[in-house]
Amino acid sequence: MTDEISDDDLTRRDGLPKGLVTLLEAFPRAEWGGDPRFGGLAAFWLDRHLAFRDLMARMADDAEAVAEGRMDPEAWRGRLARMGNHLVQDLLGHHQIEDDAYFPQMQRLEPRLTRGFDLLEADHHALDGLLRGFVAGANDALTATAAREGALRFHAGLAPFARSLTRHLEDEEDLIIPVILKHGMA
Ligand SMILES: [Fe+2]
Ligand SMILES: [Fe+2]
Repeated sequence: MTDEISDDDLTRRDGLPKGLVTLLEAFPRAEWGGDPRFGGLAAFWLDRHLAFRDLMARMADDAEAVAEGRMDPEAWRGRLARMGNHLVQDLLGHHQIEDDAYFPQMQRLEPRLTRGFDLLEADHHALDGLLRGFVAGANDALTATAAREGALRFHAGLAPFARSLTRHLEDEEDLIIPVILKHGMA
């Protein structure tokens, strides 16, 4: 494995690799909301990502509440099953439309960012594996006889998954929102 590949690895990197931030420097995150081309696709994309972050935070809060005896375990299982399914289905659909439709279109507009789109697609593959771990953890929590211990185990397993997904969402935004703004993609 070369250094370049490990730089791109989702579980190891702490932001977009240096070679991929040129467009972000021209379109800094703090100015996205005030850009006249913001809205439509850019706002929609950020909103989808916010929904994933929100689901992860709510699942983590719930697990803490059960572990501390502040939430009824039966109510928790219903909520976890609903939110877990929601996250898995929506995330798989979201990745598919990015890989099949949006990324190829953006790559044609910004061929110098090819490495970035390869990185994001590799993230999706890595997240497929992490999602399988998430599902196994959620199923374990749904069937655990001791709810508090189950909630603690689920919470511990959710943390690294959430860290990787959050890393992906943030880096993806840093790469693609500048492309959307620069080209006025609708
Ligand atoms: Fe993505
Ligand atoms: Fe995304």
